[in-house]
Amino acid sequence: MDHSTGNDYIVIKAEENGVQVIGLTRGQDTRFHHTEKLDKGEVMIAQFTTHTSAIKIRGKATLITKHGEIESE
Ligand code: TRP
Repeated sequence: MDHSTGNDYIVIKAEENGVQVIGLTRGQDTRFHHTEKLDKGEVMIAQFTTHTSAIKIRGKATLITKHGEIESE
């Protein structure tokens, strides 16, 4: 395991159609590298990786992480 990224997963459950899960690159350059679209009820389980340092959620979703559960709007 790469200790700079950890191995935790986050769970994203879309609460409306068209929720976007956006992966941002690790390193000097922070940019979008992947956008995933989820429709209502769809679930994505994602990790932080050597390529992904941040995850941005657009739209209404439930996020479950080791830090707790939160709702995006
Ligand atoms: N190829 C990406 C990576 O290995 C896939 C990925 C992992 C991803 N976690 C993500 C894409 C979170 C979007 C959001 O980093």
